[in-house]
Amino acid sequence: MLTKKIQTALNDQINHELASAYLYLSMAAYLEAAKLRGFAAWMRRQAREESGHAMKIFDYVNDRDARVTLHAIEQPPTAFKSALDVFERTLEHERKISGLINRLCDLAAKENDQA
Ligand SMILES: [Fe+2]
Repeated sequence: MLTKKIQTALNDQINHELASAYLYLSMAAYLEAAKLRGFAAWMRRQAREESGHAMKIFDYVNDRDARVTLHAIEQPPTAFKSALDVFERTLEHERKISGLINRLCDLAAKENDQA
């Protein structure tokens, strides 16, 4: 079992990972429309990777006999200034998500959950 706090935090993280996938897919759509197909393919791959992260956490919560609950995914931005704008926003987003993962590690330590 997971503590209630960890279960909630992991469910929130599933949402963040899926929102990341959605953001990157929206960026891929913008890049496709701009005919930047290589960048679009790369961004699509990132979207798949983020979906994979969500599913790893999904499976982990189930493996620990806890309950996955999914939340609404916010609409991602659809307009970008340029390919550079897309990649700068990606870097900023990755930094934010890394911070959330660090907070999850801190919570696990606080809750004495080594797994
Ligand atoms: Fe991720």
